[in-house]
Amino acid sequence: MRAHRPLAGEGPVVLRSATDPGWLPLALAQFDAVLVDHAHCEKKAAANALSLLQSYPELPGLPAQMARLAREESAHLARVLELMEARGLSLSKDLGDPYAQALQTLVRTPALERKVDRLLVAAMIEARSCERLALLADGLKDQDERLARFYGELAQSEDGHQFLFFHLAVKACDEATVEARLSTLLDAEARILASVGVRAAIH
Ligand SMILES: [Fe+2]
Ligand SMILES: [Fe+2]
Repeated sequence: MRAHRPLAGEGPVVLRSATDPGWLPLALAQFDAVLVDHAHCEKKAAANALSLLQSYPELPGLPAQMARLAREESAHLARVLELMEARGLSLSKDLGDPYAQALQTLVRTPALERKVDRLLVAAMIEARSCERLALLADGLKDQDERLARFYGELAQSEDGHQFLFFHLAVKACDEATVEARLSTLLDAEARILASVGVRAAIH
């Protein structure tokens, strides 16, 4: 099954399942919980960008791109924290994201495989986040136009990030190998998403 892609154009990461139709109503009904989870997602995206910079400074273009990405994800985090503050919400302890944690277990150990897998897992998380944020943008349209615009902007931004990570993976290895590995990982992503179930969270 081809996933519903709310944005125009098709990136290199074509998700193999669409989000369960029950997710959006739950996310809108428990929007405060989603917002807190979203803040943690942006925080982890910023931290992961710096971690990749730390691990792979030799990959051409990666240090500058990850430095910019960390700044962009931190800006997303700051905007989500502002939204939370306006609603009187505070950031609770990060209880972890079972979806992202399950994806991390797919990362292989040998150095080159690890590098490719870390980049492709990041690309898939960006692609799934893009799908979910675009769904939120659509769902919020009738109740809060400003918030809907904010989520629309973020969805577009995360869509760009999936390209960034995919292209870095191709630089780290060769395109055929990366495509083959991505295909395997995309099947796993769809299985993991289904096993995690519908939650009041970004994933
Ligand atoms: Fe982000
Ligand atoms: Fe992102």
